[in-house]
Amino acid sequence: MALNPPLNRKLRMGLVGGGPGSFIGPVHGIAAEFDHRCTLTAGVFSSDPERSKKAAPSYGVDESRTYGNYEAMLDAEARLPDDERVDFISIATPNHTHYEIAKAAVEAGFNVVCDKPITLDLAQAESLLKTIENSDVVFALTHNYTGYPMIRQAREMIQAGELGKINAIRCQYIQGWLAGTSEDDGGQLSAWRTDPAKSGAAGTFGDIATHAFQLGRYVTGELPESVSCHLKTFVPGRRLDDYGTAVIRYQDGAIGVLTASQVTHGRENDLELEVDGTLASLKWRQESPNELVVRRAGQPHQIYTRSPGTGTMTPLAEASSRLPAGHPEGFYDAFANLYNAVFDDITLRASGAAFERRDTVYPNVYDGVEGMLFIQQCVASSEQDAAWMPLNYAEARQ
Ligand SMILES: NC(=O)c1ccc[n+]([C@@H]2O[C@H](COP(=O)([O-])OP(=O)(O)OC[C@H]3O[C@@H](n4cnc5c(N)ncnc54)[C@H](O)[C@@H]3O)[C@@H](O)[C@H]2O)c1
Repeated sequence: MALNPPLNRKLRMGLVGGGPGSFIGPVHGIAAEFDHRCTLTAGVFSSDPERSKKAAPSYGVDESRTYGNYEAMLDAEARLPDDERVDFISIATPNHTHYEIAKAAVEAGFNVVCDKPITLDLAQAESLLKTIENSDVVFALTHNYTGYPMIRQAREMIQAGELGKINAIRCQYIQGWLAGTSEDDGGQLSAWRTDPAKSGAAGTFGDIATHAFQLGRYVTGELPESVSCHLKTFVPGRRLDDYGTAVIRYQDGAIGVLTASQVTHGRENDLELEVDGTLASLKWRQESPNELVVRRAGQPHQIYTRSPGTGTMTPLAEASSRLPAGHPEGFYDAFANLYNAVFDDITLRASGAAFERRDTVYPNVYDGVEGMLFIQQCVASSEQDAAWMPLNYAEARQ
């Protein structure tokens, strides 16, 4: 089969972030190369040029394509001939750097895959949206949980009306790695996450509640109306929230509850989504991602498994699976599913064809702006004793 037709070649990736000891940069590298459609070709792997150079061999990136900062990478790559230049830039750096790197990359004409949250605040996200709308680049945001086949199955079942009208969305994202530790401990704690200047106005709510909020939106398609939120900081001395609960009213009457914690002892990466409809309800957990539980009125409970070729999967879910049933797929596979959809659009753009920018399979800049509004309004609500704040974008920005 041809590779990225009609380009018939691998795409070339430039990575920003992913230095020694970092978390998500290496995941981007693996996920992008997962299906052999791309090669990690260039990078700035650290804010420290020496550490960037040191990291390059482990990614197989040549010294000549390893840069000391993102400006140098964009400048040098933009000057390379078409058949050498990177096709896209992936951004896996702390939140406060996303805006300037993404903006510069888009303005230089590069497609961008940016990690979440899209920027440090809503004003930056709106500014980046304008820059992207004035360009012709592909822009994706790695809310990677949307890449799981059984999440896509849930979405397609809801789109097909199998749950009926949506009544309720319950989502929780529970971790424990910031429990029992303070900012001064160092160790595994990623210090920028609890520094408002680098993380943004929210801690846990910016870091992981945005994933949960976006997942509910992606699966149900329900548009938010307003939010009432209570944020807490349980670890003494911490400057940002490490726990919170939000109640969300959706525009057509559904109600949502979202709890996020990074201080629940022993909990790992427990992202869970439940949706109630008038005909059925469903439940999915990230820690057993190959299963989707569906409970229909008057019928026994059904557990759908990721089982391509059996006729039980919806089309996008089936197309998002690689292995036969019973061979567990997980985090990398789902992350790579996002990249695959992005590569389809990058290929369309490179071959001069039109591509969709708003209703994409992968989360995009519009989801990024929504996510920043969600963070801003949750913080504002919590500061005013959980007062209701608009989450309907048009109303909130009046
Ligand atoms: N999608 C996900 O599931 C997921 C998971 C974790 C983190 N994230 C997001 O990814 C981003 C990075 O998180 P992380 O956990 O990997 O952080 P990290 O602290 O583990 O790693 C950040 C890396 O970026 C490098 N860096 C910092 N500034 C840089 C710059 N200006 N130029 C080049 N490199 C630079 C650092 O040296 C480090 O190697 C954050 O925005 C975070 O919210 C997303």
